[in-house]
This record gives sequence, C-alpha cells and structure tokens, in this order.
Amino acid sequence: MKFLRDLSPKKLKGRICLLRVDLNIKSLDDQFRINSILPTIKYLKKNGAGIIILSHRGRPEKFDKKLSLKPVIKILARKLKTNINFFANTNFEKIKKDLSSGQGNIFALENLRFFADEEIDGKGLAKNLASLGDLFINDAFAVSHRKNASIHAITRYIPSYAGLLMEKEVKGLTKATKNPKKPLIVILGGTKIGDKISIVSNLSPKAKFFLFGSSVLNEIKNPKVLKILKNKKCIAPMDFAEKKGKYFDIGPQTISKYKKIITGAKTIIWNGPVGMSEDKQYSKGTMAIAKAITNSKAFKVIGGGETANFILKKKLEKNVDLLSTGGGAMLDFLAGEEMPGLKVLK
Ligand code: 3PG
Repeated sequence: MKFLRDLSPKKLKGRICLLRVDLNIKSLDDQFRINSILPTIKYLKKNGAGIIILSHRGRPEKFDKKLSLKPVIKILARKLKTNINFFANTNFEKIKKDLSSGQGNIFALENLRFFADEEIDGKGLAKNLASLGDLFINDAFAVSHRKNASIHAITRYIPSYAGLLMEKEVKGLTKATKNPKKPLIVILGGTKIGDKISIVSNLSPKAKFFLFGSSVLNEIKNPKVLKILKNKKCIAPMDFAEKKGKYFDIGPQTISKYKKIITGAKTIIWNGPVGMSEDKQYSKGTMAIAKAITNSKAFKVIGGGETANFILKKKLEKNVDLLSTGGGAMLDFLAGEEMPGLKVLK
C-alpha cells in the first residue's frame, strides 16, 4: 500500500491534497471520527500542503439540508483553530472559481452524496474531483468497503496514498488477523449476528474462541446463526438478562467464563456490545468485557460505532491498540473481503 508517510514531505509543499475522510456522523456530539482525522490534516498543513476535505454523510438520495457537512466542518475548523472554506454548491465550475479566490489553504466540499454518481463510482465525478488537486489521500478506512467515486474511481486520475488514520487502521487490523499472536479471541456482539458468519469462517483457522453477546440468542432461529453455533470454537452466553423471551445482556456466569478466556489471550478483536449497553441496567456485561479487555496485555483491536463509543465514554481508549472508526468496513475486513478502496491504494 502507498502510504502518505512514505512520500517525501518536500512533495507536499505547495500541492493541493484531496483528503477523503469519513465524517459520516449521526449526531454532532459524536466526535470520534472528527478527532481521528486531525493528525493527517495537521501533518499536511505542517508540510505546506493545501487541503480539500471530501466526505459523505448519511444516505441522502438528493440534497438534504439535515445531512449537510457544514456543521461538521464547523466543528472541525474549531478543533483545528483555523478557517475552513466551505463550498455549499455542487457545481465544479463554481467550485474551481471559489477555490482560486478562497482564503487560507483548507477547503471542504459539501456532502459527496449530494453529487450525482458518487455511489455508482462514476468516472465523471471522479475526474472532476481529481481535477481540483495534485494528490489524493484516502483517510477514510470506514468507507473503503464502498465502491464510490471518491474512494475508488478517483484513484485512476491522480496519484493516490493512504493517510495516517488509514495506515493505523490497516496495519492494526492486519496485525490482528494475518499472523496474530496466539491465542486470538474474537468477541462478537451487536445486532445482525447472522451477517457476521463470514467473520467466523474467515478467522476460524486462527482464532481459539469466538465469544458471543446476548444478541445471538435473539437470532437463534436464523439458520445462519445456528450454523455459527455448531462451530466448537463459538461460545454463546450460558446465563443472561431476559424479559418476555428477549435477551438483553449476558449474565454473571458468562461474564466470569469470558473474563477467564480474555485473560489468556494474546490478541483480542472485539466488535459489538455484548448486551443492550445503551440501557444502563443492561450494560453490565459490556462493561465487564470492556474492563477485562483493556486490562489485558494482549494486542487489542476494538471497533464498530457503539463499541467504540462505549470505550470512549468510559475513557478506556488509552488501553486499546486500535480503536477502529470502521463499522461495516471493519466487519468486511475481518471477513477477509476485498475492499475496493484499499485495493486501489496497493
Ligand atoms: C459508515 O458509517 O459505516 C460509513 O460511513 C459507510 O456508510 P454507508 O453504510 O452509508 O455507506
């Protein structure tokens, strides 16, 4: 993979870098993805590059004010203590004109999904975007499983590199999955467990155990889930918090069993809370697992929006080797799927 860090800083001076990031956040209070891209922006700035920030937000079909990037860019500018010129329109002639008259050297385009062709990997949009800068930097690991114009097609038209966050994500996830220090333990929670079956098949030759959260019990009728549980390495909760046939958290015996397994691990991958952690009364299991993992000396990779937010809320992030910004992207990586955005940086 071509990394930004391997590019001589001299090659950045005076160049305009198109920086693809993932600022897809539901709430403006959720600033993890914003904070995660600051090092790359500061690095580019320090080396004298101009920056055009590119991101999508939500899944709009057309312009939707609620999904504008403007308020997110405002927060980013505040964090960087700098002005960011925001282009509210999607007309490239106008963008080019504004670019030449803009103040400072950081710019941001509106939500890429307001532009036609972003989600169909359109060449027209990719060429237009590429024509705005000299280099393309993908720092959006979290959306690199999407074959979108600003992730995939754009790399055909401009020299392209992986940014600092992308480098951290890819190296951390590779270390945990390719040749992990053993025993490797994988903890899978959250909803749609059936969709995570390919992670079990991909990592089964390397992992000692897969530990599941209470959600697996809610999906027990799903044939895919039943199939997962037939694998001897897969462990389902043995006791739980239950109400009217629905399972909300893992119970004390399961916690104690999982803790013992986690303590012996050398590599740990965790995606998805083991209970309904947004409800305090059902967050005991997730808290216990979070503590056991962060107290362990293993190499630890944790991700998925809810899980990452839980770790941040409990201020446990310092004890995590990689807190991934990826949701679906992390799952695809763990399942060993080829990610279009990563393939084109190789
Ligand atoms: C995410 O939040 O997982 C990414 O930004 C991808 O978003 P998408 O699922 O709408 O493509």
